[in-house]
Amino acid sequence: MATETAVHTDDQMMQAANDIWPFSRATGILDSGCGPALLTKVLLRTHGKELPQDTKIVCADFADAMVGAAQANKDEGGKDWERVSVIKQNAMDLNEVADKSKSHVLAGFVYFMTPDPQKCLSETLRVLKDGGAGVVSSWQDNEWMQLMMLVRRFRPNQELPSVPPTWTTTEGVEGELRKAGFKDVRAVEVKAEMAFEKIEDLVSLLVDKMPHMKQSKSRGRARRSAVLSRFVTYTVADASQCWPISAKVKFRSSGS
Ligand SMILES: C[S@@+](CC[C@H](N)C(=O)[O-])C[C@H]1O[C@@H](n2cnc3c(N)ncnc32)[C@H](O)[C@@H]1O
Repeated sequence: MATETAVHTDDQMMQAANDIWPFSRATGILDSGCGPALLTKVLLRTHGKELPQDTKIVCADFADAMVGAAQANKDEGGKDWERVSVIKQNAMDLNEVADKSKSHVLAGFVYFMTPDPQKCLSETLRVLKDGGAGVVSSWQDNEWMQLMMLVRRFRPNQELPSVPPTWTTTEGVEGELRKAGFKDVRAVEVKAEMAFEKIEDLVSLLVDKMPHMKQSKSRGRARRSAVLSRFVTYTVADASQCWPISAKVKFRSSGS
């Protein structure tokens, strides 16, 4: 796909993890709720050369499609990815991951979207070694979620993803981590950016990939195109209405 997605939080997560426990001494790394393993990709880019030779990285996700996408990235990744394995696991129940087996657990934009984020945190704590680094990210706000809320204008009962309020502030996230038993907790606000080359790519992300929207699409093709065209209307024709605030989600012209 032509979309270029750059969420700079990934680099900052790596920096934070490395400050707590340097990757040069990593003894086991879990990328929990890995999606297509983009965090692992960033880890290998930023610290791959420093990792001890025998340190393994486990990418885990509960969705078959994501496990497949992560596996595809591994298969195409070459030698650097030989240390990576991909497994199907629920972040709330990491039953294939042993107690105190990881020096690092990375979880990008995952825990807040599960039914029990505290369970994800207690599992993280269980699999981490003493002094290990757990790094998680969440959204304070973002414009693509605001954009999705527009669906409610013509489908008021549509279930849509949202971030629990405690996960939208640094104090809230710190509180959640402390509640789970983490020590030396630090939460920082960072700027995130997702850039899309083409408006169609954003529409595809919102309409084809987001689980709630996929569910609603299964009601039929006519409805699906209605949702799609509404999105296009709101995002393109009503652009000035949609983006009065400084745009965190940016559109770049693809030149086509
Ligand atoms: C927003 S994506 C983030 C993917 C990746 N961590 C990243 O930073 O690019 C959220 C991912 O969490 C996964 N996920 C959601 N709930 C989960 C759960 N309970 N257990 C494991 N994975 C989960 C989804 O399948 C999806 O791949």
